Amino acid sequence: MKVRKAVIPAAGLGTRFLPATKAMAKEMLPIVDKPTIQFIVEEALKSGIEDILIVTGKAKRPIEDHFDANLELETNLKEKGKADLLKLVEETTDINLHFVRQKHPLGLGHAVLQAKAFVGREPFVVMLGDDLMDDEIPLTKQLMNDYEKTHASTIAVMEVPQEETSKYGIINPGEEVSEGLFNVKNFVEKPKAEEAPSNLAIIGRYLLTPEIFSVLEEQTPGAGGEIQLTDAIDTLNKTQRVFAHEFKGTRYDVGDKFGFMKTSIEYGLKHPEVKQDLTNYIIQLGKELADKNPPIEPLKDEVE
Ligand code: G1P
Repeated sequence: MKVRKAVIPAAGLGTRFLPATKAMAKEMLPIVDKPTIQFIVEEALKSGIEDILIVTGKAKRPIEDHFDANLELETNLKEKGKADLLKLVEETTDINLHFVRQKHPLGLGHAVLQAKAFVGREPFVVMLGDDLMDDEIPLTKQLMNDYEKTHASTIAVMEVPQEETSKYGIINPGEEVSEGLFNVKNFVEKPKAEEAPSNLAIIGRYLLTPEIFSVLEEQTPGAGGEIQLTDAIDTLNKTQRVFAHEFKGTRYDVGDKFGFMKTSIEYGLKHPEVKQDLTNYIIQLGKELADKNPPIEPLKDEVE
């Protein structure tokens, strides 16, 4: 069966970005000029996904409004002859988007369970908003290509530094069945660095068969007292094969402040409107900082 549906959980409280997220969804924070959730929706559409469900929580109305028509704005842009801006605004309205609310923040597994009626008996993808992925073929499409061959659930993973394994779901990989596609012995949510079975971390793109829902319905709270998707996937893996797909592209983590700032800079350096000014500014700033603070320390994630 073809994969047509995507679920985007967007019900988190966004505490890492307080106070910005007190009254606003963190998914609406922009990278340069585009809300992070729009990058995720665009990845889904580029991958051939036809229907998207966003699982929302409190303060998430702006997400619904963002993907709705805004006639006042459109009329204004038309009158002023701003065709390029009008196109940008219209691009966000013509998408098959649905919304459901997660009434209690009980964890990612619980958020995905809210998609049960929307998904029905089809395979589907789950896309988390904290990771932006860049590769020639969108990562979601890569998972869909795997599914065409295996008809099995497949979870995207990537190597992370060993000391960061406690921030992620980690896989215990089995044999590599084809290039970059692994069997998985088990999945562990946020293990301590010294207990992590590998440094292959789940990175926020999942292709799942609908059997995950009956597992989620029975799932008891795990790490952090939350109903964890990783735990349900581990259980699913005991009754049907679940593969891990190693992502070789670039991942931008927009889930914390420093990652968010780095992503903003890197996307800014590619943005036609600001790239030249930003490049000049960074070179100038770099010189000033180097003069003031020698010697420059290497970045944390470059230290091995
Ligand atoms: C969630 C998942 C975790 C995964 C991570 C990827 O954790 O529970 O398994 O590795 O997303 O970003 P969170 O970042 O929501 O704590």
